[in-house]
Amino acid sequence: MTLRWPHRLPLANTPTPLERLPARPDAGLPDGLWVKRDDLTGVALSGNKVRKLEFLAAEAQAQGAQALVTCGGVNSNHARATAVAAARLGLTARLVLRGEDRHPPMGNLVLDRWLGAELTFITEAQWAERDAFMAEAARGDGYVIPEGGSNALGSLGYARAAQEILTQAEAAGLGLRHVVHACGSGGTAAGLALGMAAAHREDVEVLAVAVCNDAAYFDRQIHAILDETVARGWADEATRRRARWRVLDGHKGPGYARTTPEALRAHAQVARRHGLFVDPVYTGKALLGLSAEAEAGHLDPKSTVFVHTGGVFELFAYADAIDSM
Ligand SMILES: Cc1ncc(COP(=O)(O)O)c(C=O)c1O
Repeated sequence: MTLRWPHRLPLANTPTPLERLPARPDAGLPDGLWVKRDDLTGVALSGNKVRKLEFLAAEAQAQGAQALVTCGGVNSNHARATAVAAARLGLTARLVLRGEDRHPPMGNLVLDRWLGAELTFITEAQWAERDAFMAEAARGDGYVIPEGGSNALGSLGYARAAQEILTQAEAAGLGLRHVVHACGSGGTAAGLALGMAAAHREDVEVLAVAVCNDAAYFDRQIHAILDETVARGWADEATRRRARWRVLDGHKGPGYARTTPEALRAHAQVARRHGLFVDPVYTGKALLGLSAEAEAGHLDPKSTVFVHTGGVFELFAYADAIDSM
């Protein structure tokens, strides 16, 4: 069967462009790479989270929720996108954020405050109880969206994106073999793998570059998301069994949201040579992973699509590093 789609609110500007980067010898990127510009899903609602929120917010609305509740790091793109979606729908946003409040705020936190989101700050140690914090914030009228929007419903956004990529790749005459992206909670990977399986394109490798945790962790997460997709009736077991992906370890750098001056210089070089902002938490690390795979001969950039999942607002939290670059 093809996938069964639940109700969706059109929040993202789709289809996003599929662009081929021109060869630039000193850009630090493999020549001929294709980029799926999901950083252009919108300005306020930019990045990959919007595709997930189209399905999640539709369910929240159908349930009569008054608020969207979610969690993330203090500079979370997902939390900010959820707060924007809530404002667009006339709902409030309640965000449980890992880390300390900052005055003045930085990165996505500026926008969370600008949007009037209700914020609860929790410590690294309390993060293990994030679901309990979100349940408390929901207070009976809030719709809880898990970390990263990564459950079966949210991931369907990337099953749709897979269809979009296949259509555009065919129109561009590109013999697609690899789709590469940053993996932070597994939902984008699960959706892309499911979308490729539904189109019988399991020959296309979904390569998820881990920016936290590791491959074993993400394999478990992705399997759990796909199981839930079948349980909720959006995919059949045969499609789910065909879903293929590979999680790539080794590109986390010093840790989640941690970076080095060399990595920052590489990310800035992409901006300087291509006018493309990649961030130090997600897309920059994924691109470093992609480049290493290309150098090792594991993928050909001419048949590879890099999914640019957004994250530009995070850069403003790294302003202090500019002088060391
Ligand atoms: C810019 C960006 N790219 C990639 C990801 C990772 O996507 P996923 O959580 O679906 O693995 C995130 C998640 O927060 C993100 O903000």
